[in-house]
Amino acid sequence: RGKRAFIAGVADDHGYGWAIAKSLAAAGAEIIVGTWVPALNIFESSLRRGKFDESRILPDGSLMEITKVYPMDAVYDSPEDVPEDVKSNKRYSGSSKWTVKELAEAVKQDFGSIDILVHSLANGPEVTKPLLETSRNGYLAAISASSYSFVSLLKEFVPIMNPGGASISLTYIASERIIPGYGGGMSSAKAALESDTRVLAFEAGRKHKIRVNTISAGPLRSRAAKAIGFIDMMIDYSLANAPLQKELSAEEVGNAAAFLASPLASAITGAVLYVDNGLNAMGVGV
Ligand code: NAI
Repeated sequence: RGKRAFIAGVADDHGYGWAIAKSLAAAGAEIIVGTWVPALNIFESSLRRGKFDESRILPDGSLMEITKVYPMDAVYDSPEDVPEDVKSNKRYSGSSKWTVKELAEAVKQDFGSIDILVHSLANGPEVTKPLLETSRNGYLAAISASSYSFVSLLKEFVPIMNPGGASISLTYIASERIIPGYGGGMSSAKAALESDTRVLAFEAGRKHKIRVNTISAGPLRSRAAKAIGFIDMMIDYSLANAPLQKELSAEEVGNAAAFLASPLASAITGAVLYVDNGLNAMGVGV
């Protein structure tokens, strides 16, 4: 049987989530995705209208199929956590079962089990503010959407993951080195995500034989990255200074994720894998 992958954080064809879905599909996996509720309508209608067809082409010429798109909001674990104003918001009231618990239940009902869980989402409302100017709410919101969201997803999906399964998240080197401009507590959120990768690798490994890894990816001009405002500078910096002087493609990260999710990586867990043209290894810019 082919493997089944759930990819959380796909809302267009520009980000890492889409590229990971494609690499997993090319390797024979069945693809189901979770899309942030406010982005759901436009993503589904674009998909239906064929707007992504060119980006759906796999190496063998066939088109990637997405078996099902689920609405999700990774900052809410169950319906009791959802505030009234969100509940009554038109975009949210138009969908149902989008809290993490309900999402996992829905996937279980539809598919029974999955093999691969991908977390490709982050959000920091104050990302453009320096950490020194970040509010408590902004900081906690970044951690909630970008770090605890992974703990919560893994917690709810582990019971429906087949032993030998793998989970992968996306992180950024701002967790361990100073990257001015990656503010609002997002650097803190990525540090938490990386630390949690190790602890969760232990817990999910011992209990369920599931591997947990994270990819520290280089800069990509995704929708989320454009919102931060310094992505072109980071891409230029990498081009100028990394050991490999080429622009990083989302596909290269997708392929690394497919490797990590595959039996080829059966002894790799708790790891932070750099997929960044080697930029992390540099000590000074040259
Ligand atoms: P993206 O915009 O394609 O993906 C982010 C996704 O998160 C979007 O689809 C958005 O709808 C979703 N999202 C935001 N809040 C959510 C919530 N509460 N619940 C559910 N979904 C939510 O952008 P990108 O850059 O591909 O991001 C994917 C991951 O890659 C993120 O973890 C990001 O931090 C990481 N990353 C990105 C880098 C870059 O340069 N683009 C570099 C290193 C890591």
